[in-house]
Amino acid sequence: MYKMIDVDFGSSRYDALVNLRYKVLLEPLGLKFLEHYRPNEASYLHIGCIDQLDDKLVGGLILAPVDNEEIRMMQVAVDDEYQHKGIGHEMVAYAEKRAKEAGYHKLVMHAMLSVVGFYESLGFKQEGEIFDEGGITFARMVKEL
Ligand SMILES: CC(C)(COP(=O)(O)OP(=O)(O)OC[C@H]1O[C@@H](n2cnc3c(N)ncnc32)[C@H](O)[C@@H]1OP(=O)(O)O)[C@@H](O)C(=O)NCCC(=O)NCCS
Repeated sequence: MYKMIDVDFGSSRYDALVNLRYKVLLEPLGLKFLEHYRPNEASYLHIGCIDQLDDKLVGGLILAPVDNEEIRMMQVAVDDEYQHKGIGHEMVAYAEKRAKEAGYHKLVMHAMLSVVGFYESLGFKQEGEIFDEGGITFARMVKEL
């Protein structure tokens, strides 16, 4: 079965999370993980999903505070072989719980248009106009916690 965990910045789990994000999100777009971004991630909450059978990290995401009220979810990724098993839903639900516990009232994110339906199924609402960033079209999605 799968277990959601908090991942400490700088730990070996964090390294595994960076690798997973690269494989699922960046490599397919021909992008590289830029090492100089790492220090910026020290203040973020990192969440992972572990396959308890072999202790492998199979999913993850980042929560980055915007201000005292709002926190932004980024880099939501589930390993290709583990997609469509409910991990994405469970992981976002865990992220909502952690964000609420940390005192935030609003969860925001920029979703690629192809996954807007996934976030709508989790209760997120689209806000404002769609926009382009680096040739990819995104929608801003929000959920009150
Ligand atoms: C998007 C992602 C995080 C979802 O994780 P997951 O573990 O596969 O999701 P779940 O199994 O919890 O939910 C899947 C269900 O969500 C819904 N869903 C998923 N994508 C959807 C979409 N684009 N539109 C509508 N519904 C969608 C479907 O009901 C789907 O059910 P199915 O598996 O029977 O098709 C995962 O597929 C992924 O990492 N994709 C590649 C990276 C990516 O696009 N990340 C988002 C960055 S904004």
